[in-house]
Amino acid sequence: MNKRSSFSGKLGFVLAAAGSAVGLGNIWRFPYLAAQYGGGTFLLIYLVIAVTFGFSLMIAEVAIGRKTGLSAIGAFKSLDSRFGFLGILASAVPIIILPYYSVIGGWVIKYFAVFLTGGGSASAADDYFTNFVGSTFEPLGWFLLFLGATAVIVLLGVEKGIEKVSKFAMPILVLLAVVISIYCLTLDGAMDGLAYYVQPHMDDFSVKTVLSAMGQLFYSMSLAMGIMVTYGSYMRKDTNLESSVRQIEVFDTVIAFLAGLMIIPAVFVFSGGDPKILQSGPSLMFVILPKVFASMPMGGAIGAAFFLLVIFAALTSSISLMETIVSIFRDKFHWSRKNACIFVTVLSLVMGVPSSLGFGPLGFITWANMTILDIMDFVSNSVLMPIVAFFTCIFVGFFVGPKVIADEVKITNGKFVGEKLFTVMIKWITPVFLVLILASSVANSMG
Ligand code: PHE
Repeated sequence: MNKRSSFSGKLGFVLAAAGSAVGLGNIWRFPYLAAQYGGGTFLLIYLVIAVTFGFSLMIAEVAIGRKTGLSAIGAFKSLDSRFGFLGILASAVPIIILPYYSVIGGWVIKYFAVFLTGGGSASAADDYFTNFVGSTFEPLGWFLLFLGATAVIVLLGVEKGIEKVSKFAMPILVLLAVVISIYCLTLDGAMDGLAYYVQPHMDDFSVKTVLSAMGQLFYSMSLAMGIMVTYGSYMRKDTNLESSVRQIEVFDTVIAFLAGLMIIPAVFVFSGGDPKILQSGPSLMFVILPKVFASMPMGGAIGAAFFLLVIFAALTSSISLMETIVSIFRDKFHWSRKNACIFVTVLSLVMGVPSSLGFGPLGFITWANMTILDIMDFVSNSVLMPIVAFFTCIFVGFFVGPKVIADEVKITNGKFVGEKLFTVMIKWITPVFLVLILASSVANSMG
């Protein structure tokens, strides 16, 4: 059997995993959730949840991967043969996400190209986005380009492809985020927007705030979809697992916070201090932001820099999705990397086409007011993900035992500082909240 590939060391692992974690969720979803759920209140809750729930689940997944040296499909089963179903469920999530994530990734490349070629102000027109996604062939072309780029990187392998790209893209991403945030904070009136973003609004505190923060956290940290298990399986035994996990979380959270700094004050200035526009949700990035860029000095350059940043964020996430799927097929059927890559690319292509066309020719297919893409997103993130996370907790807490995971964490230097917290979280607290998240998202979708 082939020797399993691995990341070259801690930096490679942390940047690749952070590359997976930092994605569209951080840049496009986090800011509007923060705006919707009370600014500073949301930030605080998010932080607390990250160092408790996020920490525990990520430790569990990475450790399961490293201990077994397998991707999700074999990892759970090899630790307890009754949990094969969990590997299958976890594997289904990236298979569903990659196609539609690549459709959105394609939109991002399109916007980058438009801004780069000086057409940014045209994209500020009212119907620009709906016309674009509503057309048949153009979005498909960009989707193909994004998926193709993802496939080439994954084809190059763990160290030469994923690690290399992450080491290149992640530092540039941080730099761009810092520069754009600073620029946006210097706009006239930006300080009021900043205040709106960071000040706690306690009346906005509710159970729903907590549940949305938690849903966002799991998605943002790429948990409950086998990704961290797969990446963990490429982690060397001499890499410190606990401190790596902490660094990934800090990275992910800092970028989400910076995304808010890039977007919220600028939108605030643009709208004359009306928070409603910030809460417009998904349309924020493709509809509102181009208008904001068009209205600001040097907006064309800032827009191009912004969409380049988003491309890097999305690409390092999509490679983690594809690698996870490739790894599943390779573990299961012993395929070569090349064959697995080709198969997964074709599969994602076929599955992604309806999501793309769902805004145009297939627009008549909807369910509970959701387009095809929304349905894919709903099934994977709001239904499957909490279920997988729930069973992962039960699996670790009551079948494998937290101690087995803790021992894996301790391999490097005998220490696991957060062991007590981890044990309580994984056995009792996290599963309870996951049931609530699932119930609330299902209830929401039913209207
Ligand atoms: N964590 C990524 C983000 O924040 C999203 C993602 C989800 C990436 C699932 C890969 C898999 O956007």
